[in-house]
Amino acid sequence: MTDHPPEPFRIKTIERIHRISREARAQALERTHYNLFGLKMAEVYIDLLTDSGTGAMSDQQWGDMLRGDETYAGARSFDRLQQAFADIFGFRYLIPTHQGRAAENILCALLVKPDSVIPSNAHFDTTQANILARGGRPHDLGIPEANEPAADHPFKGNIDIGRLEALIDEVGAERIPFGMMTITNNAAGGQPVSLENLKLASQVYRRHRIPFIIDACRHAENAYFIQQREVGQAGRSVLEIARETFSLADGVTMSGKKDGLANIGGFLGFHDPDLYERAAGELVLREGFLTYGGMSGRAMEALATGLYEALDEKYLAYRTGQTRYLGERIAALGVPIIQPVGGHAVYIDAGAMLPHIPAEAFPGQSLSLALYLEAGIRGIELGSVAFAYEDPQSGELHRPRLELVRLAIPRRTYTQSHMDVIVDAFERILTQRDMLPGYRILEAPRLLRHFLAKFEPIV
Ligand code: F0G
Repeated sequence: MTDHPPEPFRIKTIERIHRISREARAQALERTHYNLFGLKMAEVYIDLLTDSGTGAMSDQQWGDMLRGDETYAGARSFDRLQQAFADIFGFRYLIPTHQGRAAENILCALLVKPDSVIPSNAHFDTTQANILARGGRPHDLGIPEANEPAADHPFKGNIDIGRLEALIDEVGAERIPFGMMTITNNAAGGQPVSLENLKLASQVYRRHRIPFIIDACRHAENAYFIQQREVGQAGRSVLEIARETFSLADGVTMSGKKDGLANIGGFLGFHDPDLYERAAGELVLREGFLTYGGMSGRAMEALATGLYEALDEKYLAYRTGQTRYLGERIAALGVPIIQPVGGHAVYIDAGAMLPHIPAEAFPGQSLSLALYLEAGIRGIELGSVAFAYEDPQSGELHRPRLELVRLAIPRRTYTQSHMDVIVDAFERILTQRDMLPGYRILEAPRLLRHFLAKFEPIV
C-alpha cells in the first residue's frame, strides 16, 4: 500500500455531495452533447475537472476576507498583496488581474506581434490561445522524456535547452518578444522543472536579450519537488527555492487560483518600468484600477494569505502525497499513467489505454466520459480536443503528442476515502475498455474549443 501523509488540518465546514443515478448521468451526457464542461455541480459526485479556484480556504483566509478593503484607489488589501508578492516573487511592479489568462492577455497585447514566436517548456492552453489570438506562434520545447509516459525522470517538465537555442538561431531573437517556462508543466503532466534547467533557460534568454517570463501557477509545488529531488537542494526551504526561481526571470504571470489557494485572482509582475506603464494602461482599460485590477479587496486578502499557505512544507508534503497515492494506486491496477506522478493531478495516457480509438476520435474524451458515466467522477481530456490547433499561417494541424485525461485534485478539498472511490471506478472501467466508443466533433469554436465543443459518439 502506498503511504501518504495525513491531512495537516481538520474540517470546520462541509459541503454535501451526492451521486445521481447512472441513468441520470447518461441523460446529462446527452443533454451536454458529451461535453463535461456542460454539467451542473449537482450532477457531479467527485469533481476533478480542475484544481483551479476549487480548493478550500483556511480559517485564516476567511478571517482576512472580513478585513478586505474595498477602496477603489489605494486599498489596504492591495498593499498586503503587494507585500506578499514582493517578498516571494521579488519583482518591482505588480499588475493585479482577475485570473491568470487576464495577465497573459495583457502581456500578449503589449508584446506579441503577428510574426512573433514564443518558446516555452509547454504553454498551457490559455497561454497558447492568447499568443495565437495576437497572431503569434507558441512553441513547446519539452525534453524528449516528456513524451514517454513511462520514462522515469525527476524533472520531466524541463525545457530542452538544445532545441531552445536551435529555435532562437532559426527564427532570430528579434522575433521572440519573450520566452516562457511553465512551472509545474501542466500540459506535460504536472511535472516539475529543475532549478538547474531554469538557470540554463535564463542564461540562454539573457544571452539573447529575450525577456524571460515564468508562468508561476503551481510554483510552490515546483519548489517542493526541487527541494525533494534536486541534488544540493534538500537543506533549503521551499520559500528560498521559490525566491531563487523568480530571481532568474524578468517577469511572472500567475493564476492565484492554484498555488495562491484562492478561488479567484491572478497577476502579472516584472521589473521593467516602461512595460509597467504600458501594462497599467491596459489594466485600467480592461480589468480595473491599479490597486485592485480584477479583484475585490477580499479576494486580494485571500490571495495574500494563500500565497504563503501554499509554501507551507507540511501542506506540500500532504498535497503531493495525496496526488501520488491516487496515481500509484491507479497505476497498480494496470492503467497507463504519466510517471512519476505530478504535483496537482494524475494524467492517464488514454491513447495507450484505449488503443482501438485513434487520436482523431479522441480517446481522452472517451475515457473521461466513461469515468463520469461509471462513477460520476469528472476529469478532463487534455489531448487533441484541448490542444490541437491550426497553424495561423500554414493552416497545418498541430496535434499534441499524447492523448491524456487529467484528474486534477482540488487543494485541501477531498479526503483519502474519495481517492479510494476513484481507484474503484478505474477497476470497473478496465473491464469495459475495449467497448468504449470514439467521438466526433459536431461543432466547436476556433480557440479553446474544449470548453464549448459538441460531440457525438461514433457508433
Ligand atoms: N497557466 C497554467 C499553467 C494554467 O494551468 C492555467 C489554468 C493558466 C495559466 C490560466 O489561469 O485559469 O486563472 O486564467 N489552468 C486551469 C487548469 C484552468 O485547469 O489547469 P486561469
